[in-house]
Amino acid sequence: MKIGIIGAGNVGTGLAKHLVPRGHDVMLSFSRDVGKLNADAAALGASVGTVAETVHFADVVVLATPWTVTADALSQLGKTPPTRILWDCTNALKQDMSGLLVGTNTSGAEEIARLTPWATVVKAIPPFAELLHSPSMLIGGKRMGVFVCGDDSDARAVVAKLVNDIQAEPFDAGPLKLARYTEPASMLLVELAYTGGLGPRIGLSLVRDTAASAA
Ligand SMILES: NC(=O)c1ccc[n+]([C@@H]2O[C@H](COP(=O)([O-])OP(=O)(O)OC[C@H]3O[C@@H](n4cnc5c(N)ncnc54)[C@H](OP(=O)(O)O)[C@@H]3O)[C@@H](O)[C@H]2O)c1
Repeated sequence: MKIGIIGAGNVGTGLAKHLVPRGHDVMLSFSRDVGKLNADAAALGASVGTVAETVHFADVVVLATPWTVTADALSQLGKTPPTRILWDCTNALKQDMSGLLVGTNTSGAEEIARLTPWATVVKAIPPFAELLHSPSMLIGGKRMGVFVCGDDSDARAVVAKLVNDIQAEPFDAGPLKLARYTEPASMLLVELAYTGGLGPRIGLSLVRDTAASAA
């Protein structure tokens, strides 16, 4: 697939690092440092474009920007963006990471959907970038769980496949409004990692008794 990533930081480059070797064609955009953007893209086997070019190029647009500059990034889309799936990776973090700026009577994902009427938004917050950039995405032999929310089941399936391609385990969490609860779960991980002393080699796992739910 053609994957256009807005935000070429820890997460954007970390996703590219997994997606390019799995055969995806990746374009990176949105950096204040064009030299670094070009160098990172070349090292990853990705191309570079403006935000508008990235959206036109992509089958799936990945939003991987700090929350406080996300509206700015989306304002660079041009007049009539084409219809696209938008994989929202953002955490609506305060700049000092002390909490969330949005929730739980709405979600970052729903606010993004309001800003992007051209997009089918799917929320799926990836594992910590330290894991994406580390030699293995597995901890104790297990993949990190990623909740996938969105109102279009086909779009959820597309993003779930990409989550699988980054060596994480997708969980279909249903409609976009469920992001009101998955986003705070990611905030909990941020707290545990950086305030609670656990560090970023942590993630979520969902335990389910499939035999009991089938009965
Ligand atoms: N880091 C994680 O472990 C993690 C995990 C899950 C989700 N997330 C979420 O994913 C999103 C991206 O996180 P990240 O860690 O990849 O962020 P990051 O490393 O800070 O990357 C931000 C990207 O946005 C670009 N940017 C352009 N203008 C900017 C500005 N005015 N201020 C800051 N950045 C600007 C940066 O470019 P230049 O710096 O090159 O200019 C960079 O390419 C955030 O919403 C975060 O909460 C992060």
